[in-house]
Amino acid sequence: MKIVHISAECYPYAKAGGLGDVVGALPKYLNQIGHNCLVVLPYYHNNKLIETKKTQVYEGQAPFYDDWFYFRVFKIEDNKDFDLYAVDIPGRFDRPGIYIDPWSGHAYWDEKERFFSFQIAALEWLKNFDFKPDVVHAHDHHTGLVPFMMSQAFRFEVFREIPSVLTIHNGEYQGRYDREDYELLPAFNLEKIGLLDWDGNLNSLAAGIKSAWKVTTVSEGYMEELLEYCHGLEQLLRHEQQKTAGIVNGIDSDVWNPATDPFISDHYSKKDVKKGKKRNKTYLCKEFPIDHDRPLFSFIGRLVREKGADLLPKLIESCHQKGIPASFLVLGTGDPGLHQIFEGLQSEYVGYFDTRLEYNEKLAHQIYAGSDFLLMPSRVEPCGLNQLYAMRYGTIPVVRKTGGLADTVIDIDENGYGLVFDEFDLDQAVEAVERAVELFDKKQLFNKKIREVMSLDCSWKSSSENYVKLYRSLIK
Ligand code: GLC
Repeated sequence: MKIVHISAECYPYAKAGGLGDVVGALPKYLNQIGHNCLVVLPYYHNNKLIETKKTQVYEGQAPFYDDWFYFRVFKIEDNKDFDLYAVDIPGRFDRPGIYIDPWSGHAYWDEKERFFSFQIAALEWLKNFDFKPDVVHAHDHHTGLVPFMMSQAFRFEVFREIPSVLTIHNGEYQGRYDREDYELLPAFNLEKIGLLDWDGNLNSLAAGIKSAWKVTTVSEGYMEELLEYCHGLEQLLRHEQQKTAGIVNGIDSDVWNPATDPFISDHYSKKDVKKGKKRNKTYLCKEFPIDHDRPLFSFIGRLVREKGADLLPKLIESCHQKGIPASFLVLGTGDPGLHQIFEGLQSEYVGYFDTRLEYNEKLAHQIYAGSDFLLMPSRVEPCGLNQLYAMRYGTIPVVRKTGGLADTVIDIDENGYGLVFDEFDLDQAVEAVERAVELFDKKQLFNKKIREVMSLDCSWKSSSENYVKLYRSLIK
């Protein structure tokens, strides 16, 4: 099958979160089982994309409101696992950030113009390119208008019979704009304008849900949750339920492999995991003044409410007050208020808690390798990849039972390998940490669980097969 993915992110060229990882890995695994994937991404002017080897393959114009805009398409020659193309739109993407201006920390003012024009340009180019897809797969609201334009825009009539799939990686962000903004899109039958609308706004995610042939989310558990609550779209999802499916994400087990990972200080595999993790922890202890002998609990990710980052300061304080022998490490960026709190805690609890308030891919790998436990107290977690990365590195996940975390982590008390707590609640989180410390002290059992998590196959192998089944069901 020939599959086109259109996405705002694709690792390693543009990544803000898990979406980038998924779009950087799923196409590779689909190609490995005999399919032919092409990925289209905006050409952000970040170092990686500027420096990478690329060739211009197209130059043209596309309509926007009552005007036209100029764009170019580059093939990224360095990407070997699948064909990757980046759409350069002067004035819109010649900046380094994906969503947020790295200098100001604020979202770009022209999100709408950026992603509308990207979607239009991507389809305009595909229409003129010699690759006739069997399926077009869009991801999140930034490309939610793709299924709509494929089925309704006069200009893109060639795509009318081609199945489209929309994957929701996060239902919170929907791309809500003014109703009148439909005027920015290429002409379509105005009788179908309702497909763009939700609650009186133009809602890109809603338009994608209504127009795509299939709608997926990144775990079964999250799909069930969205049918109950999806920031106002739950009724729409229930209405479209017959075309929805949950497919859990996998990981790229070549990138995430402690035996070869160039980002970690010492390589290891299941056989020498004890020694390997110890060395990686020693390395971390040199970077951060934490105690090597106590269990190390780390959090890696965006410091936002959704990820439960606001529970961490209270959790760390409570554990400290209770005298729980542990250390905590936080890596990430997000809510400026939380940055301040973490900075305060860092100077108050030297040796007990430390933090690096930045996005740092290399350090993230080192922390997976050197930690004993990974904390994910998420309020909402569509799939969560970090728990999967952690397990691949022999790090035991401590997670809240929600979405994809509930689907991928089984509690040790249920014959599983992780620590799971039910409610988003401080006491429950503290108890999970206490249970983790108990496990850490039962050395034999702890080592057994480490080997157990390392043996799980969380790669894209089986999940990519599920996408293939879904795509096949759409092709006549
Ligand atoms: C989003 C979700 C995360 C998921 C990722 C990839 O970032 O928050 O849970 O793993 O997308 O699908």
